[in-house]
Amino acid sequence: MTALTKQLAPTPPMGWNSWNTFGHNISETVVRETADALISTGLKDCGYNHIVLDDCWSVKDGRDKNGDLIADPEKFPNGMKALADYVHNKGFKIGIYSDAAEKTCGGYPGSLGFEEQDANLWASWGIDFLKYDYCNAPLYDQAEAIKRYTRMGEALRKTKRDFLFSLCEWGNQSPHLWARNIGGHMWRVSGDVFDSWINIWMKDWKSYGIGIDVSIDIANDLHSYGGPNGWNDLDMLVVGLKGKGQISGGGMSFLEYQTHMSMWVMACSPLMIGCDVRKMEADTASLLMNREVLDINQDSLGIPASRVKQIGTCDIWTKRLADSSIAVSVTNRGSRGEDISLKARDIGLLETPKLARNLWTQEDIADFKVELPLRVEPHETILLKIN
Ligand code: GLA
Repeated sequence: MTALTKQLAPTPPMGWNSWNTFGHNISETVVRETADALISTGLKDCGYNHIVLDDCWSVKDGRDKNGDLIADPEKFPNGMKALADYVHNKGFKIGIYSDAAEKTCGGYPGSLGFEEQDANLWASWGIDFLKYDYCNAPLYDQAEAIKRYTRMGEALRKTKRDFLFSLCEWGNQSPHLWARNIGGHMWRVSGDVFDSWINIWMKDWKSYGIGIDVSIDIANDLHSYGGPNGWNDLDMLVVGLKGKGQISGGGMSFLEYQTHMSMWVMACSPLMIGCDVRKMEADTASLLMNREVLDINQDSLGIPASRVKQIGTCDIWTKRLADSSIAVSVTNRGSRGEDISLKARDIGLLETPKLARNLWTQEDIADFKVELPLRVEPHETILLKIN
């Protein structure tokens, strides 16, 4: 870790972000109700302790006469300081959003040329986290991207307030190679993840919305770059959107959401909920709130998992844990159910007695020495902890 990166993210950050459900329809009412719901549902106790306002929080057509960004008075009639106080009093950290260009993705004012002024304003409101986007900035110019993110990183540090710095340039300029060195704590590794198993063509954007199946390969390619205080960010969770979020994609089956959650957990991705937690249903809660599963993501060694083997259409991934056990995921990426045999030596274990626990069902399923038979349904992930 470099001296620049403050140790604000020893394990992958967890929380909630407004974008996937609310888009430009954010407001202080939504944020307050979400804070309350994160508590009443038990999500906060599970570790989801950041509340991040994404794009569209400010007045769209400009800054005030001093050049300051203005929180939209219709969406936030009591202002950002009062909202930050509310959220802090409930024990959360609060995040905000801007962009390393003149305008954000939604066309709101960005922070290019105003880095210090904006950082000071956010610090005065008590903001703890910045998601810094890259719309309207030059693509495929790595030096320019590094320059723009460095400038904002410096501005944040100059405020003397602790800001968790979340880079969102979608992986085009290999942020895994430099984001940590300029003070970033997490960096997006792809375009926006949609509520879909496969990539979908977005006519308006002239690009693809990323599906879960593709994210899994990106996570494997980049696994060695993530670790304490600097994480590969696979994007906000789409668990629970069920096709209803403001990002489309049509929705996924329960087992596909389970695979999505399993792989974000295994990859040590930040876990930022994107659904409307005020209306969370029981199946969604079961995926977001399984503590044994979350413990794998939050393990103190912070080693992202990687693929060790493919059997038929199944991916086998492993992740070493601080208590000397390992987490193993078996993901069937094909469209037919598979009966496989997981061999101890395929996952780097000796043929001595060991106990396999299924983390989704929270059952000890087998003592085995040499191999473990498993049935894996299409697009299902079985998550095991093996002692
Ligand atoms: C980009 C980002 C998203 C979201 C939107 C907001 O697409 O990748 O995560 O922040 O902008 O406009």
